[in-house]
Amino acid sequence: MKTVRDLDVKGKRVLVRCDFNVPFVNGVISDDNRIVAALPTIRDLLQKDAKIILMSHLGKVDHKDPVKTEADKKKNNMAPVAKRLGELLSMDIKFSPATRGEELKAMVDGLKNGEILLVQNTRYEKGETKNDPELAKEWASLCDAFVMDAFGSAHRAHVSTYGVPALLKEEGKETAIGYLVEKEVKSLGRVVHVSEDERPFVAILGGFKVSDKIKVIDSLVKKCDKILIGGAMAYTFLKALGHKIGHSPVEDDQLDYAKRMYETGKIVLPIDTVVADSFDDPKDIKTIPSDDIPEGYQGMDIGPNTIELFKGEIAKAKTVFWNGPVGVFEKKQFQAGTFAICKACAELKGKAFTVIGGGDSASACKQFGFKDEFSHVSTGGGASLEMIENDGHLPGIDVIGD
Ligand code: 3PG
Repeated sequence: MKTVRDLDVKGKRVLVRCDFNVPFVNGVISDDNRIVAALPTIRDLLQKDAKIILMSHLGKVDHKDPVKTEADKKKNNMAPVAKRLGELLSMDIKFSPATRGEELKAMVDGLKNGEILLVQNTRYEKGETKNDPELAKEWASLCDAFVMDAFGSAHRAHVSTYGVPALLKEEGKETAIGYLVEKEVKSLGRVVHVSEDERPFVAILGGFKVSDKIKVIDSLVKKCDKILIGGAMAYTFLKALGHKIGHSPVEDDQLDYAKRMYETGKIVLPIDTVVADSFDDPKDIKTIPSDDIPEGYQGMDIGPNTIELFKGEIAKAKTVFWNGPVGVFEKKQFQAGTFAICKACAELKGKAFTVIGGGDSASACKQFGFKDEFSHVSTGGGASLEMIENDGHLPGIDVIGD
């Protein structure tokens, strides 16, 4: 697959799809990791003296209800990203508040070599998520070449991730992947196809919903030697085995599926659980066996015996893929499990290949100071899961290849 390093684009208009879908707290970017991750590709194009147009989505925009549309647009304004990018590159970043039309075209036409223009949130356009062909035509007309560097959005076949490069290829224009996508594909490729000498392959799955991760469990059961399940999704499995789970979250429509998955013999469930009498205002907190959670209590974290059990499995692994925290790590009282998983994986440094599949587990390992101890921390949660489900394929990356 062609990469940005193969492009000869001096003086050419290059449209780069980035994933600048960064979190905000009180209007301030709280984690700029995804902006930092896009810098190698942007710097390469700056060195090549290209005219750089950056596009990304930010959050979601509801286009059904006009009041909600305006509120979502206000909330998901890309302007602070331009400011942060300018600070990181120590240069002026032009910003187009318009997402199409004459105003945007004029700003693109005004770009000089080595200048950067960031376009407002692609999802301000209703057609973006519908892969609208008219919008694809308009955005494709703004550039001479396209670089896909939005790994976190590569599982979306939207205009900016799919429609534009597909059209440019038809027109014989150059399309390539950026350095971030290249690195993600190489690293995640190692958990999509795991050879015998890289086993045992252990997956750790947590997070809230089973249904979100159904396909990936199906696929991981075929690829992994063990799947350790923590987080809220564990209770659906425990209930499926006939255990009492109190007021823990459960997805009753997934019970049969959970039972079937458990019967493969590869799934390891918590044996003890830290429970609380309330999620928002926990007063009574205790550790009890996972198969007997009383009414009025809900599971919040894995217990110490489960930590030891999971640590034992992790210590034997030569390949680890982790997606989803095993407890409510945002609350101090319930972070021990997720912290222990981070530490156990970090201790494999130099001995095993360890990958975090984006999302909350990536935030947790950063928060606990273990980010540099992992072989790879993906910038895409949904994208890395879909990549495993689809045996290494994602629409936004496949469209770039031949
Ligand atoms: C993400 O944060 O997972 C990506 O940016 C994709 O965002 P989306 O789920 O809103 O498409």
